[in-house]
Amino acid sequence: MTRTPELVGLGEIALDWVDEIPHFPQPDEKIDALSQNFFTGGVTANFLSGAARLGVDVGFLGAVGDDDYGTFLLEGLKKASIDASLVKRKDKSPVNFIMVAKDSGEKIIIQSPYMQTTKLAPADIKEEYFSKAKALHTTAIHEDLTVECLRIAKRRGITVSLDLEKQIAVRGQAALRPIINEVDILLPNKEGARTLTGEPDIKAAARKFLGWGPRLVVMTLGGEGCLVTTPTSQERIPAYKVRVSDTTGAGDAFCAAFITAHVIKGLDVEAAASLANAAAALKVQHLGATSGQPSWEEARSFQAKHAVN
Ligand SMILES: Nc1ncnc2c1ncn2[C@@H]1O[C@H](COP(=O)(O)OP(=O)(O)OP(=O)(O)O)[C@@H](O)[C@H]1O
Ligand SMILES: [Mg+2]
Repeated sequence: MTRTPELVGLGEIALDWVDEIPHFPQPDEKIDALSQNFFTGGVTANFLSGAARLGVDVGFLGAVGDDDYGTFLLEGLKKASIDASLVKRKDKSPVNFIMVAKDSGEKIIIQSPYMQTTKLAPADIKEEYFSKAKALHTTAIHEDLTVECLRIAKRRGITVSLDLEKQIAVRGQAALRPIINEVDILLPNKEGARTLTGEPDIKAAARKFLGWGPRLVVMTLGGEGCLVTTPTSQERIPAYKVRVSDTTGAGDAFCAAFITAHVIKGLDVEAAASLANAAAALKVQHLGATSGQPSWEEARSFQAKHAVN
């Protein structure tokens, strides 16, 4: 093991097959796509790519398939400066189909079943990998590995953050509360928060999460920005006004910038959330989950020049 990153990401990597289409087709309709591209994607890999662009030394804990797509994904990690010394080749690489409609800017994503099954074994996780880590970030997609890494993080005093999406939230409280109990910073999107708490009101949902263990809940609200909740405060921080091309990975760019700013660089919660809105606003102007992710300087200068919604 050569590298010991300061930020470790545990979770998924997938090939994103992205087609831009003029509009969403009806059943049985055949339409011509406007463009077709392949990107290295997956929530955790996108997150790490974002943090690496911001200048953080990052490493990925996960698996790619033992196939040509796996070779493509390993190359993608390398290009993004993400350490892959513990990444293993197993089973099949997940390929996710993403369609972005040009007329509305909306997207649909069809996730591969291999997202759940192509993964490391608990024995592949090595505690020395965490020896310089300040933060562990995960999506909790693979529960056995999440529990193993949380144990290591707790033992070593490493800050743990969790990106909670709806696909994971549907697993329910019995599965997820023991994990959330060990999380320091919870980063749900709106749908994930509503689904897991059963609270339609987002402010109430965020407060409920605080009662489950985390010290901080930062909920992303798409074009509305984010809601920051601490035991003593609750504040919405508006998004930046930009021309949107593709929102895929907006949340990942946001989480990467928030954790970099707050945990790695020590900015206060509000300043970090505002920088995270800026990083995500730069990303949504480009097609592909990691295209447009900014450097630290780019995010800072964007913030200085642009107005919020
Ligand atoms: N239309 C928009 N304009 C400006 N900023 C946006 C827009 N949509 C998203 N963002 C920024 O991206 C952040 C994350 O967006 P969102 O809540 O949609 O995440 P998400 O649902 O996790 O998305 P994904 O999983 O596709 O990355 C928002 O908090 C905001 O800062
Ligand atoms: Mg997300």
